[in-house]
Amino acid sequence: MNNLLKGKKGIIFGALNDKSIAWQVALKCHEQGAQFVLTNAPVAMRMGEINDLAAVCNNSKIIPCDVSKNEDMENLIDKSMEILGGKIDFILHSVGMSMNIRKGNPYTDLDYKFMHETLDISAISFHRLIATCYKKDAINDWGSVVALTYIAAQRVFSHYSEMADAKSLLESIARSFGYHYGKTKKVRINTISQSPTLTTAGSGVKGFGNFYDYAAALSPLGNANAEQCAEYCVLMFSDLSRMVTMQNLFHDGGFSYTGFSHEVFELANETK
Ligand SMILES: NC(=O)c1ccc[n+]([C@@H]2O[C@H](COP(=O)([O-])OP(=O)(O)OC[C@H]3O[C@@H](n4cnc5c(N)ncnc54)[C@H](O)[C@@H]3O)[C@@H](O)[C@H]2O)c1
Repeated sequence: MNNLLKGKKGIIFGALNDKSIAWQVALKCHEQGAQFVLTNAPVAMRMGEINDLAAVCNNSKIIPCDVSKNEDMENLIDKSMEILGGKIDFILHSVGMSMNIRKGNPYTDLDYKFMHETLDISAISFHRLIATCYKKDAINDWGSVVALTYIAAQRVFSHYSEMADAKSLLESIARSFGYHYGKTKKVRINTISQSPTLTTAGSGVKGFGNFYDYAAALSPLGNANAEQCAEYCVLMFSDLSRMVTMQNLFHDGGFSYTGFSHEVFELANETK
């Protein structure tokens, strides 16, 4: 333990079960001395698994919040400041949902009501979160806000469908709000673009196993797992990264900058 986050207070969204990236982030933040509130959508809490996580993280408090609801977001920020005894230093947004993907609707024939929901929950919620904190002056100077994203925002991954559009918007919000919050309060806002990871949201995407294997074969370091992503989040929440803001940071074992690898060629031959 290096106590990189000693004295820091945070909010962690999106720990559904022990496969969730947010779950691993909570464990690492706890290990590094942080104190935080856990949150998820009320429906996601029915299984009760988040209680187990809270118990091993110094009995962290859990506050339900559907990220598509303004009143839930307001309540979360107010209560978190009460519980943590002041302003917040770091926030992880680890939230994604696509009804069109769940229903198997192809990208060329989307249900727009679902698409609105996808954009609201997976991207606009990031603006809602940051704007709520901004209005309430809830984040300490040099605080750090991170959202998780995927490279489908830059390049087409055929089955990632409308989530690609949501991720593009998410990354754009990080840049735009990063400018304003940086100017006024020196608050940092970044996205981390993570390798395919075996989680509930990840495995919901059709053909996930194939592009997981493809990414592993293309990336010189292989796929980054959830625990490694959590370590990168800790770095981004710590003072060691204090001049980094408005960035989309690839945490993908080199995938994003690799054009070809023999392993991919061999994988293609195997599946012929
Ligand atoms: N798994 C991957 O391959 C991968 C790769 C890159 C980025 N990501 C991103 O990482 C983030 C976390 O996903 P994960 O892979 O850990 O899967 P996950 O299913 O464990 O987490 C998704 C979370 O979003 C929450 N959520 C959905 N709707 C919500 C709402 N209305 N209000 C509040 N919370 C809501 C779910 O309850 C769940 O906890 C997502 O943004 C995802 O797109 C995942």
